[in-house]
Amino acid sequence: MSELTLLGLGTVGGGVARACAREGSPWAVGRALVRDRCKPRAVALPDGALTTSADEALDGTGPVVEVLGGELPAANLIAAALERGRPVVTANKGAIAAQGPRLFALARRHGVGLGIEACVGGGVPVIAALRQLAGGQRLTAVGGVINGTTNAILGAMEAGYSYDEALARAQAAGFAEPDPSTDVEGHDAAAKLAILAALAFGVYVAPATIPRRPLTDVTPADLRWAAAHGARIKYVARAARAAGGDLAAVEPAAVPLADALAAPDGPGNAIRIEGDLIGATTLSGPGAGAEPTAGALLGDLAAIAGGALTLDYPAPDLAPAAVRPLPARYAVRLPHAADPAALGHNARWTRDGDGWLGIVEGATAADLGPAARAAGGGLFRCDLPALD
Ligand SMILES: NC(=O)c1ccc[n+]([C@@H]2O[C@H](COP(=O)([O-])OP(=O)(O)OC[C@H]3O[C@@H](n4cnc5c(N)ncnc54)[C@H](OP(=O)(O)O)[C@@H]3O)[C@@H](O)[C@H]2O)c1
Repeated sequence: MSELTLLGLGTVGGGVARACAREGSPWAVGRALVRDRCKPRAVALPDGALTTSADEALDGTGPVVEVLGGELPAANLIAAALERGRPVVTANKGAIAAQGPRLFALARRHGVGLGIEACVGGGVPVIAALRQLAGGQRLTAVGGVINGTTNAILGAMEAGYSYDEALARAQAAGFAEPDPSTDVEGHDAAAKLAILAALAFGVYVAPATIPRRPLTDVTPADLRWAAAHGARIKYVARAARAAGGDLAAVEPAAVPLADALAAPDGPGNAIRIEGDLIGATTLSGPGAGAEPTAGALLGDLAAIAGGALTLDYPAPDLAPAAVRPLPARYAVRLPHAADPAALGHNARWTRDGDGWLGIVEGATAADLGPAARAAGGGLFRCDLPALD
């Protein structure tokens, strides 16, 4: 049995420790770095295994499992482990989205593995799928439902709960943090999309430059409209290659029920990869949770032990790619008293409930949002086929 070092023993770290304690596991936890050694832990580790000293945690051999969260100090601890020749696997999308080029370059320089499967999609093996697919063709688009918290909130809103009630239920179920802004404002999805774009297109995208619209823009009327038109509102992150630069967006979208991206319930994820040979393929499964994420981390450890080293990640000297908003069909909702002509865009307007709903083709949220909001309305991307 080989020893590993855990950096973090919270939700995911606890899942890894439990998996290591199962009969037949090839791994045992030798050390675990935490903030508070006195905190009660649901998982028992050998005496002396817990430490609050990063130096002590890194001063060993064997692989390191980084599950602290946050960009810093996590990225610096990953770097320190790689510099000591220790392979690292991480679930920390924030650290990889921001510092992936530097960390992968370090891993290559020191000839050790760096596994990031758990950073996107929880238990859905999208990083392995991307590596496989990108090797044989030009990938053209990637993304989907990649944030389990917002998906769980939307599911509860479909069941009739208000946004606040749905958020409280997601928090009680452990899907949402006490401060949900990272999820509902799209930062988490943008970080994951930046990692997917790096592997699919070989570009470095700064997550903060990805256009985002918050989940809080979704109204119960939007959900009712989607249900009446054979669709569900999903919080969709998507990046696509285009002449003149890459396109990306994280935003609410009405997705037809026949589309696999409409299917995930609760904290589920569905991720589509498009390429010039494969067309499109969609992977789906548990997008978060201690056990699925632990499975992804341990899978990376097995791959590294089997000789897989690092992914082909953009080099640190590559300039960040300029990302433009993704043009799409949008549904714009305006109150009854508003003048649809004031939107300033060609739209097909219909009466919807006590207001107006207009379909605008080939626009971006940046074009439409300010005017729609000024008129007291809102908008969502509409991935349905053209509506008559
Ligand atoms: N939760 C999920 O379902 C999920 C799924 C996929 C990926 N992830 C990612 O996995 C990572 C961990 O998430 P989590 O939910 O397990 O977080 P968590 O429950 O908050 O656990 C974080 C752990 O790291 C320790 N820690 C944090 N900062 C530290 C520092 N500066 N020094 C020493 N110890 C520190 C904490 O110590 P104490 O215990 O002493 O406070 C805790 O044990 C994050 O990057 C997250 O995005 C999570």
